[in-house]
Amino acid sequence: MQTAIANPNIAFIKYWGNRDDALRLPLNGSISMNLSGLESRTTVQFDDTLEYDTFELNGEMQSAASLQRVSHFLDHVRQLANSKLCARISSTNNFPTGAGIASSASAFAALALAASKAAGLNLNQKDLSRLARLGSGSACRSIPDGFVEWLPGEDDASSYAVSIAPKDHWDLVDAVAVISQEHKPVGSTPGHRLAHTSPLNTQRVLDAPARLKDCREALLGRDFARFAEVVELDSNYMHAVMRTSNPPLVYWEPATEVLLWQVWQWRKQGHAVCATVDAGPNVHVLALKAELEWLRKALVELPAVKNVLVGEPADGARLVE
Ligand code: DP6
Repeated sequence: MQTAIANPNIAFIKYWGNRDDALRLPLNGSISMNLSGLESRTTVQFDDTLEYDTFELNGEMQSAASLQRVSHFLDHVRQLANSKLCARISSTNNFPTGAGIASSASAFAALALAASKAAGLNLNQKDLSRLARLGSGSACRSIPDGFVEWLPGEDDASSYAVSIAPKDHWDLVDAVAVISQEHKPVGSTPGHRLAHTSPLNTQRVLDAPARLKDCREALLGRDFARFAEVVELDSNYMHAVMRTSNPPLVYWEPATEVLLWQVWQWRKQGHAVCATVDAGPNVHVLALKAELEWLRKALVELPAVKNVLVGEPADGARLVE
């Protein structure tokens, strides 16, 4: 039996669209930061008395799609370990499921580590990241520490994430302004398949290496002004692709736009804040930690904001002894 913990991550340069959906080989590289405070904790036990895998999430037995996705992922682990055993999996998130925070990244990163260890495998970080990627693309970025880049690669062997700076490299925080707790109508897995239908996507993918370079350099040089510009450009570019897909994918709500406008005003006034939005309506406000105190208060006071969750740079996936 093995237990592992992993944190979710927020992408500064986004993953959107695959060149191979089954292997989750992304169309472009991405850069992210692991988020402390929020975590998935997962225990896996292979057991020769079980006839099928069981999966309990936050105390509730799962069936149908969620069990199927986890069980399908375990098939990869069984194949690597040359095993036929079924497993008992139990997982908890310490952040509310459906709070608009992507839980698949922390979930599959913790599952990859716990399951591979429980199956007797001792994967190095690269191979663990590759394995997590098969469960959820963004999960490969929750394996290494701190600030992370997913190298898109060309095949299963070359697509994995690496740490580009440790968590104490830069005092950044992510203040997530939660404006909706509803489950998104279209999840990211079917969403990725629509990227190809947008006429803007080819250009977004072509320009991605330049944005990655800009973001990497801004991050390593702790240049907030440069960082803010490329982070907002990349988020807007992804949402432009989503909106021009067929059928269109619109994740924003009117309040999303209001918040983005507000963040821009604050930056114009000289504050080190910028915003990025994932496949949902909530706004991730990235800021230097020195801004956090007033920022949290100001966000909570906005009528559209239900609550604010704060994440700081965090370690990668780890075992619980
Ligand atoms: C918008 O990793 O959730 O958050 O591989 O199908 O599980 P699957 O998709 P997922 O996609 C994340 C999309 C995003 C951008 C990002 O995190 O890079």
